[in-house]
Amino acid sequence: MDSEIIREMTDRKHRAHRNSVTQHFLKKLFGDGLVLSKGEKWAKVRKLADHAFHGESLKNMVPAMIASAKAMVERWKDYKGKEIEVFEEFKVLTSEMISRTAFGSSYLQGKDIFEMLAKLTVIAFRNSFKIRLPGISKIIRSSDDIESEKLERGIQGMILQIVKKREEKVERGEMEDFGSDFLGVLIKAHHDADKKKRISLENLIDECKTFYSAGNETTTGLLSWTVLLLAIHEDWQEKARKEMTMIINESLRLYPPAIGTSRTTTREVRVGKLILPANIDVFIPIIAIHHDPKIWGPDALLFRPERFSAGVAKATNGNLHAFLPFGQGPRICVGSSFAVTEAKVALSMILQHYSFTLSPAYVHSPSVKVSIEPQHGIQVVLKAL
Ligand code: HEM
Repeated sequence: MDSEIIREMTDRKHRAHRNSVTQHFLKKLFGDGLVLSKGEKWAKVRKLADHAFHGESLKNMVPAMIASAKAMVERWKDYKGKEIEVFEEFKVLTSEMISRTAFGSSYLQGKDIFEMLAKLTVIAFRNSFKIRLPGISKIIRSSDDIESEKLERGIQGMILQIVKKREEKVERGEMEDFGSDFLGVLIKAHHDADKKKRISLENLIDECKTFYSAGNETTTGLLSWTVLLLAIHEDWQEKARKEMTMIINESLRLYPPAIGTSRTTTREVRVGKLILPANIDVFIPIIAIHHDPKIWGPDALLFRPERFSAGVAKATNGNLHAFLPFGQGPRICVGSSFAVTEAKVALSMILQHYSFTLSPAYVHSPSVKVSIEPQHGIQVVLKAL
């Protein structure tokens, strides 16, 4: 896919939605939240989320991210000179970070939500390529139908509890307002006097689910693959202590946690030399574009962070649209700055205390679930500095 087609498909508002009709189980995971919603419903929450995850609000989240990363590095003390599996560690870290920063609750309070969402993710993945006949689930219900409905109800109940707790705190005067974290912003919008700006409780729950689901696996992937690459290329650990952006970019290029994204045409459109009818799903294969030697050169498959030393335009030989780990256009990932900040905080904390080498136990097997993940984890041996 050339970069002109990517631009055409992602930049235009009239092609900006993703098809949610065929994604029965994904819908249970994300509800009608930002990832799958469209039109005004999408625009209303996108504005709130853009505000909550960028600029000043993001800056205010950094201390909580540091606290979570510190707690992890503290736990790692027991592993000095020993092997540690980082993929599971980063799952805990990223869920704790999103829980503390966006929802103001501790990881332990959100633990049940994560566990249920993780189970729902497995079901969504297992069913992602199955074709469903419309209405069939009303007649024949598979065990996945039954289990996913149970999980969906459980998740809703847990989120409602967290929301109610916050509302009660305001009622009792323990909090002045609903708070400036994402949950606070959503509850405020739910209580908005202006009907046009108000969001329903159902919508609020869907957005919470979306942010738990969209943010954890992807950022866990980014951290895990970066540690793998740094463990293989130990010389880059010292450089990473001074400059991290190009290393993160190179990791996102080689192992983009979201391997692709999609757009649906809303009417007949011309895309490059093609004329696409309405309602065509176009898959944008991020991982293939990131590995294309025509764009990146003959060393496309190698870890060469220095290719990003003079920015993305130079690295892509002017094909700016060819580097898209967070997608592009109006539907670009709303959590990109949040994710990169999380990764930088965690990696700097690790690199301040440790150097690491790849364990002989590591087996390379990237596998695509909802995002690309190391099938057998990533084992490294820690050395205290
Ligand atoms: C390294 C981490 C992450 C990666 C690689 C990633 C990647 C992506 C990609 C490729 C898309 C689709 C964009 C498009 O179609 O143009 C997306 C959308 C989205 N991401 Fe992320 N993401 C990450 C972290 C996060 C985090 C931490 C959050 C939440 C805090 C988040 C929330 C979302 C949401 C809500 C959308 C849908 C946006 C919309 O359609 O308006 N993501 N992400």
